[in-house]
Amino acid sequence: MKLRSPFAFVIGLILLISCQHNKINKTMNNANNKADSLINLMTLEEKIGQMNQLMNFVDTLPIESKFYNLIKEGKIGSVLNSFSPEMTREMQRIAVEESRLGIPLLVGRDVIHGYRTIFPVNIGLAATFNPDLVKECAKIAAAEARSEGINWTFAPMMDISRDPRWGRMAESSGEDPYLTEQMAMANIKGFQGENLSNKNSIAATAKHYVGYGAAIGGRDYNTTLIPETELRNVYLRPFKVAVEANVATVMSGFNELNGVPTSGNEYTIKEILKEEWNFNGFVVSDWASIKNLAIHGYAKDSLDATYKALRAGVDMDMCSSHYIENLKSLINNGTITQNQIDDAVKRILKIKFELGLFENPYATKESTLLTEYSKDIATKAVIQSTVLLQNKNKVLPLSKDIKKVAVIGPLADAPYEQMGTWVFDGKEENTITPLKAIEEFLGAEKVNYAPGLKISRTQNKNGFSEAIKAAKNSDVVLLFMGDESILTGEAHCRAKLTLPGYQNELIEEISKLGKPTVLVIMTGVILMVEPYLNQVDALFYGWHPGTMGGSGYVDLLFGIEPPSGKLPMTFPRTEGQIPIYYNHNNTGHPASDESWIRMYDIPEKAWQTSLGNTNHYLDYGFEPLFEFGFGLSYTKFNYSEIKLSKDILSMNDSLIVTAKIKNTGDFVAEDVAQLYVRDLVGSIVRPVKELKRFQRIKLNPGEEKIIEFVLFPKDLEFHNGKEWVIEPGDFHIWIGNSSKASLMSKFELIQ
Ligand code: GLC
Repeated sequence: MKLRSPFAFVIGLILLISCQHNKINKTMNNANNKADSLINLMTLEEKIGQMNQLMNFVDTLPIESKFYNLIKEGKIGSVLNSFSPEMTREMQRIAVEESRLGIPLLVGRDVIHGYRTIFPVNIGLAATFNPDLVKECAKIAAAEARSEGINWTFAPMMDISRDPRWGRMAESSGEDPYLTEQMAMANIKGFQGENLSNKNSIAATAKHYVGYGAAIGGRDYNTTLIPETELRNVYLRPFKVAVEANVATVMSGFNELNGVPTSGNEYTIKEILKEEWNFNGFVVSDWASIKNLAIHGYAKDSLDATYKALRAGVDMDMCSSHYIENLKSLINNGTITQNQIDDAVKRILKIKFELGLFENPYATKESTLLTEYSKDIATKAVIQSTVLLQNKNKVLPLSKDIKKVAVIGPLADAPYEQMGTWVFDGKEENTITPLKAIEEFLGAEKVNYAPGLKISRTQNKNGFSEAIKAAKNSDVVLLFMGDESILTGEAHCRAKLTLPGYQNELIEEISKLGKPTVLVIMTGVILMVEPYLNQVDALFYGWHPGTMGGSGYVDLLFGIEPPSGKLPMTFPRTEGQIPIYYNHNNTGHPASDESWIRMYDIPEKAWQTSLGNTNHYLDYGFEPLFEFGFGLSYTKFNYSEIKLSKDILSMNDSLIVTAKIKNTGDFVAEDVAQLYVRDLVGSIVRPVKELKRFQRIKLNPGEEKIIEFVLFPKDLEFHNGKEWVIEPGDFHIWIGNSSKASLMSKFELIQ
């Protein structure tokens, strides 16, 4: 076509692109074909641009010129964490309307536990043991985010966390692979919906691939040493399930795994994720984790880091600019191939087509933020995530006829802090704090409020007298203690896991008054709470509850809803016990109460004795304070009559397991029935217990129901370091409402 003027050129180009668009849309019938077709139109620079993700750090419009030009020249394929929906829209507009091929941007954001409606932090969501509820939370978050132009979230995080010192346990689903698998699937289905092109769907990310939570010492970004059996049977499991659930993207991590950083790890990414599991989405690095390959000492410079990240199978570079700066020269000098570039770009384009971005690149404005429905779901999530750890003297539930209640503590009215870590779009003015909710429920005249401490880290007693006065003038004391959100999450780990500031001193002073006292701890990590058990009557672990924290707490405190949360992670008695988790191996010297030699029982002069040669501490024994799966109710549940459909199971059989559960108390309540299994003998040793099923069950006072689970030999599969096996042998099976379940039966699996 001969063009006579620039204007004609532009018109011709627009016609060409639009007919290319039409051509793409009309003739290509699925994302892969569309990606194949589009890539043929692209220059090498445009291809590399798709592999480049950048954040625009200038937080005001207009888009600053350098960033504007990068988008216009097709050198950015994705942006993240932009400062406003208006900025997001303008960046998308530049890509779609001003770049040569009009390829839309992936707009990524950390929508981790809510967008405007903030749900409990993910460790709290895991404590619900309710995948359906968690899926609904993710669905709401996706609709809210997409309505403001976000089309990709860097969630769910599915790092198994066995170390409460690790601040990022707040984003995890805890220590158990099965629970984490269920939460990962629920989040992915909630975010992605039935179809990514659905106007309320966003692409999800399985992160941080892999083993990030095994950081030595629980110190974030630290080295991880994970043998193949643990890698396969623990840390990789949730990611495999995520791939089977069609997660759109995977994020490689910051950690070095057995000497090779995960963002340059060919074994985990190329061999396992892409070849063995046939993952067909794309891999994005974590923030500058490609650049970090040189800092790790795995690459000698940025060129080498670029080469090793691409070789490993990282398709998109988050914010290190290594791909945009180095890939072309690596192609030109033959270090990498065009095919490697094309494979990465096709993976990225496929997700853009599946999201329907070529047809609908902009915000949907279909969903409104913070609807009554989303607030109801958020309140339900608070109720089901909060774990009742103690209720002495039946202090709870409180009566609504109470005359005066003291509300004390730095988290009682901290609207921003209670939202927890990784909150970009929650607004503190929307938060229902405990104080606000209690005043609304009882009437402000019944409430004596005194924070006692300005913030959780206040190290003075200036507010104590007012708090003590409030307590003295009240019938019951409600303490809301915990952490500012910044004390949890990325890079924020602690060696001493106790309430910061003078909170311990405040609790001590209040406990001397002898008033019925309830402590609610609001944080994203596990603190050592044993000292508080003798200072207060009741203890709720409320996590960082999000927008509707106060509303959920009021329903629990006053018995409108029964507590039903269960611990997704073991509570140590002291930091010295860490790591301590329920699904451990037996060792050759398993500990028991009888074998525990208590330090002060040992005679003054004691020769090396054969007594007590077991896996315990002289001072803190071997038991945690609270076990995985533990959580009290206002009632009691009795489990009985476990029955198996057969005692001998063949490899193509299924096993039906039933038990009776009875509510023996006076309150309607929900419990989480849990099924655990132990493989007594294996080609490698197997854990003493493994969670294989759980289900929530609601019972009226006195009501009894039969719960039923179905197990398959596949559920007993494990990796022995060489291959996946299901081995015949003897198994124990338990049903109960914590990992200490004692209602047990047995079965044999035969070839
Ligand atoms: C951070 C986190 C990651 C997050 C990303 C984008 O460093 O490790 O989880 O999604 O950067 O904010």
